[in-house]
Order: sequence, then C-alpha cells, then structure tokens
Amino acid sequence: EKGGYEHFMLKEIYEQPRAIHDSFRGRLNAKEGWVSLGGVKPYIKEIANADRIVIIACGTSWHAALVAEYYFEDLARIPVEVEYASEFRYRNPIIRKGDVVIAISQSGETADTLAALKMAKENGAFLFGIVNVVGSSISRITDSGSYTHAGPEIGVASTKAFTTQVTLLAMMAMMLGKERNTIAPKRFQKLLDEMEALPDKIETLLESNDYIETIAAQYKDATNALYLGRGTAFPIALEGALKLKEISYIHAEGYPAAEMKHGPIALIDENMPVFVIATEGENYEKVVSNIQEVKARKGKIIAIVTKGDTEVKAIADHTISIPSTDEVLVPILATIPFQLLSYHIAVMRGCNVDQPRNLAKSVTVE
Ligand code: F6R
Repeated sequence: EKGGYEHFMLKEIYEQPRAIHDSFRGRLNAKEGWVSLGGVKPYIKEIANADRIVIIACGTSWHAALVAEYYFEDLARIPVEVEYASEFRYRNPIIRKGDVVIAISQSGETADTLAALKMAKENGAFLFGIVNVVGSSISRITDSGSYTHAGPEIGVASTKAFTTQVTLLAMMAMMLGKERNTIAPKRFQKLLDEMEALPDKIETLLESNDYIETIAAQYKDATNALYLGRGTAFPIALEGALKLKEISYIHAEGYPAAEMKHGPIALIDENMPVFVIATEGENYEKVVSNIQEVKARKGKIIAIVTKGDTEVKAIADHTISIPSTDEVLVPILATIPFQLLSYHIAVMRGCNVDQPRNLAKSVTVE
C-alpha cells in the first residue's frame, strides 16, 4: 500500500503533483479564464464583504493560514488575522457578525480547532472550512467549505495536505480578488496559467531528490538548524523547521530572515546549517544580504533558489533550484525540497519517519 515507496511520507511527497491537480481540477480553467470553488460561490458576497477574515488552525495547517494571510491581503485586500486555535479559544476573542472565520485542518478532527469554531459560531461569525477528510467534524460544523482533495495522508508529518491547502487558499483569494476588483486581470490570468503549470513544475523539482539526499547526508548530525525566509517564504521557513524537528528530532527554528539580527544570529557558527528561501522576486536582494551575514559568521547556507540563479549560488554552500513561477505560488514549490531534506535526514538518523515519537496524526484531545 506504500506503492513501492519505503515510507508513506515519501509516497505522499511524490503524490503532490497529482494531489494539487486534484485540488484544482474542475475548479479553474486558465484557457477560459475562471476560478470557482463550489463552497465559496453561493457566499461570495458575504465573504468578499467580510469586515475581516480570521483564520484558525494548528501546526502545519497554521502555517498554511499564515501564507493565506498574504494572499487575502495582497490579492483581495481583506484584513486577515491568523490565530492558533488553542490561543484563540481561551482568550475571550472579539468575534462579530460580519467576521468570516476560516478553519484549516487536514483531519477535520483537531479538538482545539473544532472548539474554536464552535465559539465563533455562537458569536455569529460565518464559518468556512478547508478540510481534507470528507465528512469530518469540522466539515460538518462549518457553514460552507472546500475540500482539499489531497487523498488520504497516512504519514504523521503533513506534506501533500499542506501544499493542497495552500493551493486552495490561493484559489479562494483569487476569487475574492476578482469579486472585489482588487486583482489586475493580467495578474489573474498569469496566476491561472501558473496554477495549471504547477503539477509539471513539481515533477521537475522532484527529480532533484537524489541530489537533495546528498545534502541531507552532510547535515544529518546537526543538533540545531535555522530556517529563514521573507514574505510568503517566512511561513515556509516555519514549516521547514517543523518538518525537521518532528521527524528527525533535530532542534530547528524558523524565522523571518530580517529578524535574525534581533537574536538568532548569536547562534551562528560553523556547525549551524541555515536553510534559506532565496527565490527571485521582491525580497531577493534583501535575502542575499541575510545570507552574507550568515556566511560572515561561518554558518552553512543551504539555499532554495530559482532555476538559473547565479548570485546566491556563488555564496551559498549548497543551492537547490526550483522552477520559476508567480511569486504567489513559490511557497508551494519551495516547501517540497524541505520535505525531502527532512525525510532523508530522519531516515539516515534511523527515526520512525511515518510515526514519530509522541505524535498522533489527529489531535483529538486539547
Ligand atoms: C505537522 C502536523 C501537525 C498538524 C496539526 C493540525 O506535520 O501534521 O502539526 O498539522 O496537528 O492537524 P490538522 O490539520 O488535522 O488539524
């Protein structure tokens, strides 16, 4: 049932081209120029005119929420707050009619997320679910929602569930941006084209697996690691760090690259691997400076770059190339090398990749 793969996690990483295709199939058409989620369509006015969107989630799903914050604000100009479900529910939050609360959950059974939704419902918010497991508790309590269609995810460490969540959230932001006239038609079309091209781009990227394994071999004995990114790549840094710590038990931290100088830079020495997302786009030059700061302190740089990059290649210890795409979709591509790195490091350390110690696939207790 692992389809020839050694672990479910690896199988699920490799399923991402198909999973992402399934998550947008029938929901967008680049040639005809439209995107439409069945769960959003009947409520488009309500959601597009929300006073604000509050997104609640836990763990990896919370990282998808952080990416979505950029999407909804940038493409649809709707104010967004992202909350850990466990914090949100216990702090007497302000929720009003006119708020749209989106819950993101692979399992649809996470106790804190479910309880936070119940609270939001009592306060009159409109609830929307982005869930993978069909018929799960969260899918039932929400007013509407969209399934990610990632297929069953068995590995405890979330992989394809995350990238399909981000895919769906991008589509939702595009719909809202279109409705609110906050997205330029050219940009909208480019995003549609790039979305349809994603599965093939992921296939290309997966061809780097053997090379990524050779990098993993060099850092498998690290005791600490830093992950850095800016903009939508910041949540990807958090997700990269979570993936490494949960399956390999190496302590890892994700930071916005610019925050490094406010503390974490003190940790950097020749034994510290620093994983950086340094892809083309608005933040590129700033990230290059951050890389130089790490190199000046002898840290090891493993950078994710856009294919064809030369500047980072010249200063980093290792670079992993991803295909060029719209900046909005970079998080989906950039997260995959981190999944593979964590996977190989964990395997080399003899860890139980699919069932890490102390973790459960679905956290149904508080
Ligand atoms: C990390 C991981 C967890 C889950 C979290 C939320 O790889 O799997 O952090 O993301 O427990 O679970 P769901 O999405 O099912 O609500």
